[in-house]
Amino acid sequence: MDKTSWWKKSVVYQIYPRSFMDSNGDGIGDLNGITSRLPYLAKLGVDVLWLSPVYQSPNDDNGYDISNYRAIMDEFGTMEDFDRMLATAHGLGLKIVMDLVVNHTSDEHAWFVESRKSRENPYRDYYIWRDPVDGHEPTQVESCFSGSAWQYDETTGQYYLHLFSKKQPDLNWDNPKVRDAVFDMMDWWCQKGIDGFRMDVISLISKSPEFFEPAEKGREVGAANGPHEHEYLQEMNERVLSHYDLMTVGECPGVTVEEAKKYARNDGKELSMVFQFELMDADGGETGKWNDRKPQLSYVKENLTKWQLGLRGYAWNSLFWDNHDQPRCVSRFGDDSTEENRVHSAKMLATCLHMLQGTPYIYQGEELGMTNYPFQSLSECRDIEAVNAYHEFVDEKKQFTPDEMMRYIRKASRDNARTPMQWDATANAGFTTGTPWIAVNPNYRTINAEAALKDPDSVYYYYQKLIALRHTLPVVTDGDYALLDTDDRLYCYTRADADQKLLICCNFSKDEVPYEIPAEFAKAKLLLCNYEEYPQDRLRPYEARVYLLG
Ligand code: GLC
Ligand code: CA
Repeated sequence: MDKTSWWKKSVVYQIYPRSFMDSNGDGIGDLNGITSRLPYLAKLGVDVLWLSPVYQSPNDDNGYDISNYRAIMDEFGTMEDFDRMLATAHGLGLKIVMDLVVNHTSDEHAWFVESRKSRENPYRDYYIWRDPVDGHEPTQVESCFSGSAWQYDETTGQYYLHLFSKKQPDLNWDNPKVRDAVFDMMDWWCQKGIDGFRMDVISLISKSPEFFEPAEKGREVGAANGPHEHEYLQEMNERVLSHYDLMTVGECPGVTVEEAKKYARNDGKELSMVFQFELMDADGGETGKWNDRKPQLSYVKENLTKWQLGLRGYAWNSLFWDNHDQPRCVSRFGDDSTEENRVHSAKMLATCLHMLQGTPYIYQGEELGMTNYPFQSLSECRDIEAVNAYHEFVDEKKQFTPDEMMRYIRKASRDNARTPMQWDATANAGFTTGTPWIAVNPNYRTINAEAALKDPDSVYYYYQKLIALRHTLPVVTDGDYALLDTDDRLYCYTRADADQKLLICCNFSKDEVPYEIPAEFAKAKLLLCNYEEYPQDRLRPYEARVYLLG
């Protein structure tokens, strides 16, 4: 495999360090905890680990607010712990991809501490400052975490921009000194031997001039894919990325297929791939994710098909159902209402995603079929997004009752993904000997890694098989994709190269659905199925099968 494309055959596993494994009993996951669990990940067969941020941070947004890019968060350990983790991972054949959060820093970062001191400070232009307009915010742009995206700073009588919390001021990428400083820091991590970057909201770094014009509310989407976006990424590529053999993935809210073809171009001038979010909008609505809507399979099929066909030959897809910002996929796109349906639908979702073209991402616990958490009151929630949204919709706008909002939080809150990893059936799921920073899901006694490792039919071993298929069958990486016309409850597609053809059949419903295998697959070999026997004329609830021809 040539230098730049090892990641096309890789499967990535995302670790949310705060919730993965606590090694010292303070209730917070840490680097030594990760190191102790690396053999579990090696056994699963994944190739790459993406760590959510481990840098120094006051944790207003759990590490996505960085106060020092070259230091490890005290709660997570030391730089020596990091080096040991990296070396141990490499020894096991696992690569490490770091989260790069450079659309904004923490307000406690030295650059911002300087910047806010005076209008003449050399760091003033590291951030985005504007005068008040008629004594108010310069524009009506809203923060992704509720309220205005502008924060007034008394010391200098100006507002600064923060697309996220007010403790996450946006960097001014139009300032060449900011780019120099960021690229230097990236190079420093590359020198350490890391294997890539996942770039946080990287589609927001270049803000267009119109973005600063007074406009109607809800304008913040206008922040994506600004006029210098690709120029800055090409500069980053030339100055840093191209000097190493890295995997890079841009988190790109607002990205379209056409834009993705630029970000993730096959010529390697920008990034290896991007995360698109249209799929995650499958159950979105006017009040964003806070609603009762369920994702429709027709939307999912149409969207995945559009991206499979759209990027083919131009750019590379990344594939995910889950991450630290999304509710658990088995509860959202599958069915966690009975144990049987949970296990079948977790395996079905995995099959559907892992047989597509692109690099699949597994979020910690997804390989166990971990579910959403039964949040009953706001006091159980930790995430700034949910807490702020509760105050916005319940207290300020009085748009939802507390019960309604809690229902939406149970369905969509990011905390669903952030409850501790369920290792075993002992106290706190074996995550910590202390008090966990966020509650453990009460279902840990049945859903946990130890139980999964003992059960040959577990979701874990099913993922292991899917990962092995990707590693052994070139058609999974390279084959052409085609959607088959079926019953609305099914998602069936083929992948084909010159030598082989795969048929993937997934039943997304709790019904038994009549289905005839296409004639050309009559003699095909069944590679994988999440049921023991497989009748020829129908698919059982949440059944998934993979057939191979040739
Ligand atoms: C990204 C991260 C999310 C964070 C936000 C601000 O969307 O994935 O967790 O809150 O950026 O950094
Ligand atoms: Ca700890």
